[in-house]
Amino acid sequence: MKKCLYNKIFGIISDVAEELEVDVYVIGGFVRDCILERKSAGKDIDIVVIGNGITMAKTVAGRISRKIKVNIFKNFGTAMFRYKEAEIEFVGARKESYKSASRKPSVEAGSLRDDQERRDFTINALAISLNRKTYGKFLDPFDGVSDLEKKVIRTPLDPVKTFSDDPLRMMRAIRFACQLDFKIEAKTLKGIKSNAYRLKIVSPERITAELNKILLSDRPSVGLNILYDTGLLEQFFPELHELKGIDTKDNRAHKDNFDHTLQVLDNLAQNSDSLYLRWAALLHDIAKPATKKYDEKVGWTFHGHEYIGSKMIPDIFKRLRLPLNENMKYVKKLVALHLRPISLTQDEVTDSAIRRLLFEAGDDIEDLMLLCEADITSKNIRKVQRHLDNFALVRLKLKEIEERDHLRNFQPPVSGEDIIEAFGIKPGRNIGIIKEYIKESILDGIIPNERKEALDLMYRKGEELGLRRKS
Ligand code: CTP
Repeated sequence: MKKCLYNKIFGIISDVAEELEVDVYVIGGFVRDCILERKSAGKDIDIVVIGNGITMAKTVAGRISRKIKVNIFKNFGTAMFRYKEAEIEFVGARKESYKSASRKPSVEAGSLRDDQERRDFTINALAISLNRKTYGKFLDPFDGVSDLEKKVIRTPLDPVKTFSDDPLRMMRAIRFACQLDFKIEAKTLKGIKSNAYRLKIVSPERITAELNKILLSDRPSVGLNILYDTGLLEQFFPELHELKGIDTKDNRAHKDNFDHTLQVLDNLAQNSDSLYLRWAALLHDIAKPATKKYDEKVGWTFHGHEYIGSKMIPDIFKRLRLPLNENMKYVKKLVALHLRPISLTQDEVTDSAIRRLLFEAGDDIEDLMLLCEADITSKNIRKVQRHLDNFALVRLKLKEIEERDHLRNFQPPVSGEDIIEAFGIKPGRNIGIIKEYIKESILDGIIPNERKEALDLMYRKGEELGLRRKS
């Protein structure tokens, strides 16, 4: 396993271990990712010391440079510092057991084996010795390497114990299965199902961090389907859980909106790595259950789901501790607009409709088009191609009109000050009326988005309102 120990830090740790006369190992995600040859390998390095982790961290840091700042978490017996690109964390080996009503562990010193047992999965319990005599020796008491080869997620102990020690691990199991394209072993999966209700003691921040990793993986549907099947999803995301299912009336069925949403996400994941664009895909149909109606003439309808859905987003973001900032506004906007480009694919679409979409979407128009293209989930290849061709035409029209009218970042060509100055008036209602009139005239194509034409219109509208030009 020496191939994993290419970083100079391991040699330094090894020297310090001799001086302090302690056993020391690199363990966890670093070893797993090194064996899997993952891109992320080497970012974070976890070191376990059979002794005092904090002393070890301080001594190693001091050996590298006096300038290194060591962060110490006394309560947990851990310490960490940054070394070049990596975060190196040191912990004293421990036995750990969590009280059932909280996540606060009670900790006692333990052996390497104790420390490996308290870890979440066999593939995360792999250790490599850093002591001189056994440098590079691999310690794998639970056959984690064979699980890596078989692509299996399995807990080292009885899953009920591992998951009740920290219920977040149920989310982690699904996240790893999704990120690494692994299967969760049957007994471990059963353990998740029977402990799903315990997720409620985990903080929303930690749950959302795992959910985000699922969303950012190559095929988010893999993780979301397991979240649904295990009963975890309904614990923290009932709105998404609600999307599942099909209703039938008069032999007419609507599509399963959960499966559709997952397909949209997977489609989008092939074309964009943006987390919040993926959130928009996850939430684009979130109000379908709330707006569902059956009409004898047209069948199932979901009128206004884009608008109601966009209104649901702040509460969802708040509960999941997602940022209530520009990112949330962006998701709201895309959800609200996600049907608009479809309405532009009809032949008789006016330039004015295109201008209005450009005005409302602004710089997010490209992302909106990506979302709409991902939203085509028909199984009929000819139909999919027809929709894609239509969207290609919409893109063309959008480009043409944007080049002519520059509406993406619309700045009013006439300002409030211009109006005050032109008519010698005080700030008041008329200014808003004139500005709105000019904006609407530009969007309707009555005048171009140019200052001269806008000023002419300002004078005309002002006179209509009974204002007099300042001479
Ligand atoms: N660990 C655990 N239970 C948790 C979290 C972490 O047993 N709830 C252990 C695992 O052995 C894990 C190590 O702590 O490998 C480091 O955790 P972390 O850095 O969160 O995860 P990684 O496995 O390194 O993976 P990633 O970086 O992808 O999150």
